[in-house]
Amino acid sequence: MSGKSNIILIGFMGSGKTSVGKFLANKLGHDFKDTDKMIEEEQKCTVQSIFATKGEKYFRHLETETIKNLNDKLNNTILSTGGGLPITEGNGVLLRQLGQVIFLRAKKDTIRKRLAGDNTRPLLAGSDQEEKMEVLLNQRTPVYETVAHRIIDTDNKSLDEIAKEIMENRSQYEITCD
Ligand code: S3P
Repeated sequence: MSGKSNIILIGFMGSGKTSVGKFLANKLGHDFKDTDKMIEEEQKCTVQSIFATKGEKYFRHLETETIKNLNDKLNNTILSTGGGLPITEGNGVLLRQLGQVIFLRAKKDTIRKRLAGDNTRPLLAGSDQEEKMEVLLNQRTPVYETVAHRIIDTDNKSLDEIAKEIMENRSQYEITCD
C-alpha cells in the first residue's frame, strides 16, 4: 500500500466523513481533502448541478478520475470521499492504494437524524427520502465493509472519541502490500 500516511474515509451520506476528517486533519497536522469539493472546484459547478445537467453516470466517472489522479500525489492527508464513490467497480482497489481506508459506520437511525431536512443530496431528493436511504444503505453497507481496512462505529460518539479510535493501533493496520 502506497501513501501509508493517508487516511481515506468512506461511508454513507451523513456518516460524518467531513466533520471527522477535518477534525482529525487538524489534530494530526495533516491536509484535508474531499472528493466532492475537488470535483466542484475542477468543474466549477456544484455536485447537485452536475447530477442535474450531466447525470449520475458522468458524476461517477469524475469520481473515478479524481481518485486515479491522486495516486502517488497524496501525502499526510485525510481524504473524505462521496458516499457512492466506493461502490463504483474498481474504485475500492484504487482507494486502498491511496492509504488506510476507514469505514465510518453509522446505524440507520443515526443517519436518518443527521440527514433530516437535508436537500443537498440528489440521490435522496424528492419524496420517499427514508425509503431511498434505506435501499441505498442496504446495498452499500456490505461494499463499504469489504473495501475498508478498518470499520469504526460512530453512533453516539463525539468527534474526539472517533478521532482517538482512528489513531489508536494505527500502525497495526499499516499494510505493506495489497
Ligand atoms: C453521494 C454522496 C454525496 C455526493 C453525491 C452522491 C452518494 O457525498 O458525492 O451527492 O451517492 O452517496 P456525501 O457522502 O459527502 O454526502
